[in-house]
Amino acid sequence: MVNYKDLGLVNTREMFKKAVAGGYAIPAFNFNTMEQMQAIVMAAVETKSPVIMQVSKGARKYANPTILRYMAQGAVEYAKELGCEKPEIVLHLDHGDSFETCKDCIDCGFSSVMIDGSHLPYEENIALTKKVVEYAHQFDVTVEAELGVLAGVEDEVSAAESHYTKPEEVIDFATRTGCDSLAISIGTSHGAYKFTPAQCTRNEKGILVPPPLAFDVLHEIEAKLPGFPIVLHGSSSVPQDEVATINEFGGKLPDAIGIPEEQLREASKSAVCKINIDSDSRLAMTAAIRKHLAENPSHFDPRQYLTPARDNMKKMYIHKIVDVLGSNGHLG
Ligand code: G3H
Ligand code: 13P
Ligand code: ZN
Repeated sequence: MVNYKDLGLVNTREMFKKAVAGGYAIPAFNFNTMEQMQAIVMAAVETKSPVIMQVSKGARKYANPTILRYMAQGAVEYAKELGCEKPEIVLHLDHGDSFETCKDCIDCGFSSVMIDGSHLPYEENIALTKKVVEYAHQFDVTVEAELGVLAGVEDEVSAAESHYTKPEEVIDFATRTGCDSLAISIGTSHGAYKFTPAQCTRNEKGILVPPPLAFDVLHEIEAKLPGFPIVLHGSSSVPQDEVATINEFGGKLPDAIGIPEEQLREASKSAVCKINIDSDSRLAMTAAIRKHLAENPSHFDPRQYLTPARDNMKKMYIHKIVDVLGSNGHLG
């Protein structure tokens, strides 16, 4: 059993309290590789931002859970080396799918876990979440739960609406589970294809404009649970310049589209205090690598193309922190 406090990590409790009160959101960046980890830490240190480094089931399979935990421990030491005296780094399990996975992570040093029972019937979601909370809280590990199902790109907008979190359920859910934060569904979804062109309109330049998030649902939830930390998954914006670079240098991402940044900016000012971003990091990395290799066909040392990839991800992380979520300068 390793306690996260011995690794210099922190849980989300204080961080979220301050973020809700201060009208900003904490970035939750997924990581699988050393370059992502380095870019996240550099961005957080340079902007003096707290940060959540999160690990999915896929990341655990790709990189090995033990390695990821040591990378997070390394992230804390690296942040200090970069001049940050007291980094605030959370190691979070993203989309935990069972009590056993959550327990595994808690036992090996995670400071926060998500138990995603959103696909389960309501009472089963409550029972599973409560079981994880009871275990996690013994070690002061915080727990994110989910209520409502994120839309898939294949959903019609009207069908997607029917999966939105039901505001009338949130008080009962939060009270009975004891969860520390709640991921809700208000129209975001995972991946680089969040909406079909048919779900969008076009602006005067012919650029696709996605349907707005359901802020009415968010505000109803906030009214039911004043000050309670709310989480948004699927919040990549799918920057069109990165998509264009990928397509220019041999990629094929037709009609990739994300959540407009001004909507995330607005959400950050509300009780939304954790915003999950993964796809934008993948796009930033892939765009830089494709461009570098196309322009330097003789290069074969991974350090040659992973350096611009890391730089591009760092730039993106800094942009999210400073220009979208507003978590810069909120350490300590
Ligand atoms: O929520 C999903 C994250 O983007 C993680 O995706 O399971 O492919 O690592 P992944
Ligand atoms: P994106 O695919 O929009 O980056 O969402 C990531 C996420 O929600 C991870 O849990
Ligand atoms: Zn997610």
